[in-house]
Amino acid sequence: MRIGIPKEVKVREGRVALIPPAVGELIQQGHEVFIQSSAGVASGYPDEDYRRVGAQLVPDAAALYGSAEMVLKVKEPIAAEYELLRQDHILFSYLHLAATPKLAQLLKEKRLTAVAFETVEANGRLPLLVPMSDIAGRLAVHIGTTLLHGYGGGRGIMLGGMPSTERGHVVILGAGAAGGNAAVMAAALGAQVTVFAPRREELERMHALGPNVTALPSYAPLIAEAVYNADLLIGAVLIPGAKAPKLVSAAMVRKMKPGSVIIDISVDQGGCIETIRPTDYEHPTYTVDGVIHFGVTNMPGAVPRTASQALSTVLTPYVLRLAAEAGLNDPALAKGINVAGGKFVHPAVAAALAH
Ligand SMILES: NC(=O)c1ccc[n+]([C@@H]2O[C@H](COP(=O)([O-])OP(=O)(O)OC[C@H]3O[C@@H](n4cnc5c(N)ncnc54)[C@H](O)[C@@H]3O)[C@@H](O)[C@H]2O)c1
Repeated sequence: MRIGIPKEVKVREGRVALIPPAVGELIQQGHEVFIQSSAGVASGYPDEDYRRVGAQLVPDAAALYGSAEMVLKVKEPIAAEYELLRQDHILFSYLHLAATPKLAQLLKEKRLTAVAFETVEANGRLPLLVPMSDIAGRLAVHIGTTLLHGYGGGRGIMLGGMPSTERGHVVILGAGAAGGNAAVMAAALGAQVTVFAPRREELERMHALGPNVTALPSYAPLIAEAVYNADLLIGAVLIPGAKAPKLVSAAMVRKMKPGSVIIDISVDQGGCIETIRPTDYEHPTYTVDGVIHFGVTNMPGAVPRTASQALSTVLTPYVLRLAAEAGLNDPALAKGINVAGGKFVHPAVAAALAH
């Protein structure tokens, strides 16, 4: 198969779908790989590294999309890329269509096949979402710690506290890959951590992180009380393919302390906090009722080298499977198909877009 890897164009997005050793593996298996010039540079992989493993460098996006049967991206296409997509393309990328109806409609009209990383499912897990969620969860605590500094309007606290001071209170909604990693980081800093999740096994895993972690079922009154006391509130819930449920209302945000911080990682699926809206790394934050909000939809884009290496590792076997004979009939990849033949074919995506 002819596999094309474009340079990412979203604001400050430096990830690349595959790093050179992974591209080398696809070529060894008999595929042709085209890569847009400088696609790997922000991740520390110059064109020469791709050329050395046998990839064909192409100068621009038009040539790249023109050469490819499979377009392998990181972030969902943005307006500038729409006209480059063709009916015979297989688009394999993060898509988050429930939160991007305009793109969803366009993909339907193009009648191409769009396979979303975030709904590929194997053994009840989302293998292509996990590494980016792991990174986003960890980054949420790095970023939240900095936003709490006083010079930018934060509460002026250190989350772990010091002898003779209070500890900061971190509240996390969701205990999957993103929420779980955020909890690990916040607990290691010494913060007082409260995690909400609906499933008993997740609560057990969070409780076991240490004596400074409280794991609670996600009942509305318990969430409301914890949010009121939070210094850093992190949203990390997911119902695959669907819009995130709103667990925190604007009225609850209004009662939070001035200078406290909200990071809603699930903003890419619409967010679980009513006051969140998508932002980017050029303008990552805004303030509502004195509370700092961070809604960047491509958080791992801040650490492109780490993120590209992690993504490449999980992606390579699935690219090989998609390019093989079984292709779209592979059971894990079949769950990833969001759009095909002019229809939304993933049930949760179709339901979300029907409203
Ligand atoms: N902003 C970014 O840059 C970025 C990066 C990576 C992932 N994400 C997003 O982060 C979100 C979380 O991804 P994940 O991989 O951690 O998902 P996951 O499936 O591993 O975890 C989701 C969690 O949500 C919980 N949940 C579902 N409904 C809930 C409810 N009503 N109350 C409380 N918890 C509930 C689940 O039990 C689970 O613990 C997704 O929307 C994903 O797309 C965003």
